Amino acid sequence: MRKKVVAGNWKMYKDKSETIELISGLKEKLSKFNSEVEVIICPPFTSIEIAKELLKGSVIHLGAQNMHFEDEGAFTGEISAKMLKSFGVEYVILGHSERRSIFREDDKMINKKVLKAVSVGLKPIFCIGETLEERENNKTFDVIARQLTEGLSSISNEHLNEIIVAYEPVWAIGTGKTATPSQAEEVHKYLRKLIEEKFGRSFAESMRILYGGSVKPDNAKELFSQPNIDGGLIGGACLKADSFYDVINSAV
Ligand code: PGA
Repeated sequence: MRKKVVAGNWKMYKDKSETIELISGLKEKLSKFNSEVEVIICPPFTSIEIAKELLKGSVIHLGAQNMHFEDEGAFTGEISAKMLKSFGVEYVILGHSERRSIFREDDKMINKKVLKAVSVGLKPIFCIGETLEERENNKTFDVIARQLTEGLSSISNEHLNEIIVAYEPVWAIGTGKTATPSQAEEVHKYLRKLIEEKFGRSFAESMRILYGGSVKPDNAKELFSQPNIDGGLIGGACLKADSFYDVINSAV
């Protein structure tokens, strides 16, 4: 049985006092939660240190939203995996479609990041997904197969266990348009088969594949109950303790 995961991608939201407010609210809501679901929050870098402090003794795990693939150097504005690790970060979102489209990250760069993350002990939440145009041109499976193959290229079996895949159709992110449970399940099933072909059956059975893209309290349960959907990567609905808690509860 794969343990379900619900991860919150805060994106560029929440200053210091808002971070304190949201985490306090979540901790209160989750105080009686017995961790049937793995809950992760990924605040911006500026909130990492305070989040780590506030999350002490809670069931909530801490992730970041991006990192550079070098350990250090003249890379103005960047943060390394090693730096995140030194602040007690456990997960890192890599390959998010906003990084791919706005910041021009390609499969090769994302692969470097994935390999660096696992080498320092960070667990990637590795995102893939097709654009609307690609879907309309029947390219969905080709695109996600390429993103998965290239993004996870050269990864060792030992580190493969640490990867969480997030399928996020770009056309569903922040748009209010969700893939229907059967549309999402179709892709998740395909991904699991692809993982089996590439890495073998036991990895395919144990790897968590999350769905992301306009997941909300009112659609989460049906999505999370699909056989190959192991939880979600949540944007908008993770910014309020109430709605994030309701999404988490939908995975129980
Ligand atoms: P959304 O974002 O839930 O606001 O669509 C999801 C994501 O970008 O990870």
